[in-house]
Amino acid sequence: MTEVIKVSGDTWNLEYGKGKWTYLEKDPGEQSRNAIIAIYCKQFAVDGKLLDVGCGTGSLCDFLLDKQKENYLGIDISAEAIRLANLKRNLTYIIESAETFQSDEKFDIIIFNEVLYYVDYKKALKRFSEFLAANGTIIISVYKNPAISESLEKIWNVTDSMFETMEHTILCKKSNSGALWWDIKALKKKEY
Ligand SMILES: C[S@@+](CC[C@H](N)C(=O)[O-])C[C@H]1O[C@@H](n2cnc3c(N)ncnc32)[C@H](O)[C@@H]1O
Repeated sequence: MTEVIKVSGDTWNLEYGKGKWTYLEKDPGEQSRNAIIAIYCKQFAVDGKLLDVGCGTGSLCDFLLDKQKENYLGIDISAEAIRLANLKRNLTYIIESAETFQSDEKFDIIIFNEVLYYVDYKKALKRFSEFLAANGTIIISVYKNPAISESLEKIWNVTDSMFETMEHTILCKKSNSGALWWDIKALKKKEY
């Protein structure tokens, strides 16, 4: 069994409405995380189709190239997050849960940007692997909080069993209240 932080779509809507997650687009540490993910996207498939699972208000899109934005699809369970994303820019954002998302098309890059704690990550990684193009890349960012370090370890154990790590960046932001780390990995399916 994987550990999941259960948050309903309504709670996400309420929190986005109150501005609780606005810092994701403003904080230099969070922006640096998005910049690294955008660099990975450029490195692994600059012209490829991108799927951003749990895209929120589209904070990653601040760092994508114009041609990457043309090939971008963001999905999020929160209607409010998608409304805010659409207010910001005219890209393809849809209200959809990671649990129910279906697609006939394959994506060159599938991004789980600070979202894997909220879904059954083992199931999600397996399901979304089916939407990955041949030689496609999965990009995952998780923040390292001592309170949830054990579950992060479990996430990486699962990814290690399914994927090969192509890139791994550890980002650290220090402030008066302490330090915050992000683990950001680019993964490819293992060849059997
Ligand atoms: C911490 S926020 C990160 C948002 C965005 N990726 C970013 O970095 O700015 C987590 C996001 O995951 C979304 N989310 C949570 N559970 C989800 C699910 N089952 N399917 C799709 N999105 C989900 C939330 O609505 C929220 O926007």
